[in-house]
Amino acid sequence: MNKTYSLRRLCNLHKHLLKQHRVIRYESNTSNDINSFVLYDKFICERRSQSKCSVLVQVSSENSCSDLYSYCSKYGLIKNIFHYKLAGSNHFVLTEFEDQSSVNSLLDQSTHIKDSNVIAVRSPFLWFRSNASKNNSKLSIVDNKFNFPFQANQTMIEPNIKDIGLDKLDSLSNQMLLLLKCTQLNDIGTRLRFLTAMQIENALKGIFPLSKVLPFGSSVNSFGKIGSDIDLVIMDSQTTENETSRLIYHGKCVSNSRTQTQRNIEILGDLLQLFLPGCSRVKRISQARVPIVKYSQDFIGVECDLAVSNETAVNMSELLYIFGNFDYRVRPLVFTVKMWAKEINLTNDTPGRWITNFSLTLLVLFYLQQEKIIPDIQTLVKQARNKDVRITNEGINCTFLRDASKLHNVVENKKTLDQLLLGFFEFFASFDFNTNAISLNFGKTINKPEYSALYIVNPLEVHFNVSKNISSEEVERFRIELRNAAWTIDSSLMNTNSFNLLDLFKGYDVNKKSQIVFDIQHQIKSSNRLVTVKDLFDDDSQTQEDTRLNKQLK
Ligand code: GTP
Ligand code: MG
Repeated sequence: MNKTYSLRRLCNLHKHLLKQHRVIRYESNTSNDINSFVLYDKFICERRSQSKCSVLVQVSSENSCSDLYSYCSKYGLIKNIFHYKLAGSNHFVLTEFEDQSSVNSLLDQSTHIKDSNVIAVRSPFLWFRSNASKNNSKLSIVDNKFNFPFQANQTMIEPNIKDIGLDKLDSLSNQMLLLLKCTQLNDIGTRLRFLTAMQIENALKGIFPLSKVLPFGSSVNSFGKIGSDIDLVIMDSQTTENETSRLIYHGKCVSNSRTQTQRNIEILGDLLQLFLPGCSRVKRISQARVPIVKYSQDFIGVECDLAVSNETAVNMSELLYIFGNFDYRVRPLVFTVKMWAKEINLTNDTPGRWITNFSLTLLVLFYLQQEKIIPDIQTLVKQARNKDVRITNEGINCTFLRDASKLHNVVENKKTLDQLLLGFFEFFASFDFNTNAISLNFGKTINKPEYSALYIVNPLEVHFNVSKNISSEEVERFRIELRNAAWTIDSSLMNTNSFNLLDLFKGYDVNKKSQIVFDIQHQIKSSNRLVTVKDLFDDDSQTQEDTRLNKQLK
């Protein structure tokens, strides 16, 4: 990094610090820190219980909500009721009862329509027939006369970030917090994800009573946003054998081979496609490294990936969940970086040679390890207790401290979110991706064990690279965008002392800089050396200085 650049940064930070008392107060109000940490197992268990007590009912309009509430109340006490609307004016009501027995009696009493083309299936997804004998109540759902615990203001539709009011806040840190608040997975989104899992679990229960279906990935790792896909995995419940029983179920021996997994995927695909309501556009991706069934759950409006075994990914979700809850700055930083990458097309919904959200999340966490805001994984492994020991069926050791509040370490780094965002961009803009691999296990770089454009050691399977798919062109593009982002924030803070996060999401504007690039290329050509990305992004004065020095060296 050149001298002018650092000096300028110091001035900016100084100016910034003068303004920060307000930001710091705002941020310190954030309750999300390790002291209010909920254990992952507890979180999963509570959400699964909720989903067992819930049904999702399609209604003709919002006006049916009160009618539905009175109808459902006959089956038991209703704890929560949510309404949401999907595109195409489809209205849904998620109803949670106090007790699972209420759901069972409601489902027992529900009926199937007489239509030879429709296969009768019992599931938590229902629709509410209008009552022909009675004039439907026209009372609005917000009418206070209906004193039911209706939850409003929760959307299933991802907001447009241009409409959430980022431009009304001048502090970048506050904008990052607002972005998190408006785009993160909300309560109803989480409930519906667990209900989606429960639909598959219930469908398999008769034949596979020990199977459970769990969400993993961003639905549960604390980095999920409204509308992100649902990753699901079928797992066996940990059960202890009843040694006193003399009657034992006959079972079928299966080899745990890849071919078997691929066949299971085919069968699951058929099950979803032929029998399960709401599941559409089913695709069997059996040739992938982890074979999956892809489908849409139309009642939720979300894409799902269902795997038949991927215990390591569940443990990975828990590891990320721990980091996401470790310090209040982790999630807003990850969200901002992921949004930045999405808006400038560094990431893509379809898998390919580009960087993934998972890799990006790991990069942010690695940077936060450098800042000593979160610990390295070795520390969590060393502090693991007996109850934290987990070895997967495939023999992968996923042992680490689950209750991170037991670490008792005080985070001394008090940097604000805007400093960390700029720090992230600068750190990776000058990172030597050619020789270094990123290890979150040690919290530092190691030599690349093999050639890959980007090498991030898989935290749980350390012989694998989670970013093996990424091409060198994409890494180069990533670096260009990192430099551009650092430059955009830095120059804006210097000129106006404020920054609009939306400016970051515009990405590198080739036209804006084409003249500078041309000039630099021209100068370098005359000095007879190759043009590097560094040349294109260092500011004018520094490039001239570089060129002069280079000439002298020659
Ligand atoms: P979203 O983009 O919000 O869906 O983030 P995500 O974290 O859910 O990513 P994705 O749906 O692509 O993957 C789901 C989970 O699978 C991740 O959280 C990881 O645990 C795991 N995973 C994804 N990609 C890789 C990979 O390349 N290697 C390994 N080992 N695990 C991966
Ligand atoms: Mg996902």
